[in-house]
Parts: sequence; structure tokens; C-alpha cells
Amino acid sequence: MELYVLRSKEEIGLEVARRIVERVKENPNIVLGLATGSTPLPTYKAIVKYSLSENVSYKNVTTFNLDEYVGLDENNNQSYRFFMNDNLFKYLDFGTTSHHFPSLENISSYDEEIEKYGGIDIQILGIGSNGHIAFNEPFTDIKEKTHVVKLSENTIKDNSRFFNSIDEVPTKAITMGLETILKSKEIILIATGKNKSVAVKKMLEGTYDPSCPASSLNLAKCKVHIYIDDECYEGMK
Ligand code: GLP
Repeated sequence: MELYVLRSKEEIGLEVARRIVERVKENPNIVLGLATGSTPLPTYKAIVKYSLSENVSYKNVTTFNLDEYVGLDENNNQSYRFFMNDNLFKYLDFGTTSHHFPSLENISSYDEEIEKYGGIDIQILGIGSNGHIAFNEPFTDIKEKTHVVKLSENTIKDNSRFFNSIDEVPTKAITMGLETILKSKEIILIATGKNKSVAVKKMLEGTYDPSCPASSLNLAKCKVHIYIDDECYEGMK
């Protein structure tokens, strides 16, 4: 695991976007694993900025999203598909069949589909305040592939800030499993703000603790880059 502490979430966004755009230029058929939530927003903004100014094409890029709520269709502005269209996809020249999201329909073939494309070259991750990655809540089995989860009270409470009321937050989601994520060829996890400090500290202890799913990244065979901002770092002391 390689840790980078940068001043702000904007700086992280620029740095991670640079890394990704360079990789897309090297490999126009790259397979990207994408995350939602507020954390990757500065990264997506910077990817759009660099890609447009440098004429980088996404025509042959494939994307697999980490997770999706059960019960929200793509027109619902809280669905993750809506989020991705709104913050990244619509600005770039992706093909109409470039994007993959886990759903109740494809749940049993999602991992195979990823394999069919040769696996995920770069997986972007955020982290929940309880250490969840994608929607893999504490004590998820490390051998899980894409599956349905019942969201923890903590996650429902955290994510209620995006909804009108907590009652509107779906209670279930479909998520790549820890095994799916750990198979990626490279992983970039971003954590910004003080409310992530406890989870990040646990993850950086260097061993796998099932109470913090993000610490499973210690078992990954690929390169894992962790980007945190000063605020998150200060909170770890
Ligand atoms: C959700 C997503 C995760 C994300 C987490 C953190 O639960 N399923 O993929 O990492 O929220 O969200 P945020 O980046 O808004 O703090």
C-alpha cells in the first residue's frame, strides 16, 4: 500500500485524474472500475477537464461501477447510474454500451462479465466512515463476489444526506464483493475529511480486520494507492 497525503480534496482530484487520463492515453481499451459518493467528484471533474483539453477519447473504454441501490431506476437522481451520467459519462465520448452496473438481473454474471473484458485495470474506491468499500459492510465475507446487501444503519444514516429524508434511502443495494474488488489490477482509494480518519487508520494498520472491510486491501496482490487529505490525516493522530 502506498500512502499519499495531499493538501485538499481538489489536489487529490487533480493528481488521481492525471494518473487515470495518462493510463487511458496509453491504453484506449482500458477497463475502469468506478465509484460513486462525494469523494470521487473532484477526480471526475478533473478527468473531464484534462480529457477535453487533451482530446482523449473514451470510445473504447469500458466501465464497471462498484454498486447500485436496489429499487432506484436510472432516471432517479439518487441512482448511481444517474450520478455517473451526470458527473462523468455525459461529458465524454463513451460508447452506448460502455457502462456496466450491477443489478438484480445481472448479479450472478457480473464478475464473469468483468473477466470477459480482461478484468479491471484501475479500480477507484471511496471508503465509508465505518470502513465499508463499495457496499461491503463490516464483517462481509472476503470471498464474496457481486451480491445483494442489506445496508447498515450507519451507512443509511451517512447516505441520507443525499436524500430528502432518511426514509427515502433504500435499505438494500447490489455491490461488487471484496473478492471482485481484490482481483483488480490496480486500486486507488481516496479518503477525504475527518469522518474517514478512524476507518483509514485501521486500514493502514497493515492487516486484515473484518470489522473494517477496507483493510482487506492489505491482502491485494496488486498496487494499492491510498490518497488522503490533510484533514483526514490530522484526524488520525
Ligand atoms: C457509499 C458508496 C461507497 C462510497 C461511500 C462513501 O456508501 N457505496 O462506494 O465510498 O458511500 O461516500 P462519500 O464519498 O460520499 O463519503
